[in-house]
Amino acid sequence: MSVSTTKPIQPVVYLTRIESFSTAHRMNSPLLDQQTNSETFGKCNAIHGHNYKVELTVKGTVDPITGFLVDIAVLKQIIDETIIQPIDHNFIDTDVPYFWDNNLVSTAENIVVYIWIEVSKRLPTNVELHTIKLYETGKNVATFLGEFL
Ligand code: NI
Repeated sequence: MSVSTTKPIQPVVYLTRIESFSTAHRMNSPLLDQQTNSETFGKCNAIHGHNYKVELTVKGTVDPITGFLVDIAVLKQIIDETIIQPIDHNFIDTDVPYFWDNNLVSTAENIVVYIWIEVSKRLPTNVELHTIKLYETGKNVATFLGEFL
């Protein structure tokens, strides 16, 4: 009897989990002097906060038995470890070492990359991170697809 080596065709699905968190931050670069920081960031140079929304989209094939791309409880746990515990109701600039270790200003652009890096380390191997969208406000959204130049 011959065994077929052809893999069954499986649908590729994108699954999005949406969470929200709040954090204080300050737009301030340690690489600039105070006057330049003030001129560059204006009133955002003062400590203030935002209610962020994050949309995390993963890509993969659906398990034929469970019907899951990934168990949403696993995704929820990863988001809790990477976003909620370290960032929520904290002061991101000092409470998340990634920012001060790397002299990074806590813009939505830098926060979305931080989230990507941390989530990537924890995802099950059968799942691919596709997109992370970070809404700093209803009008400002940073999107990262894991691209580096
Ligand atoms: Ni801000």
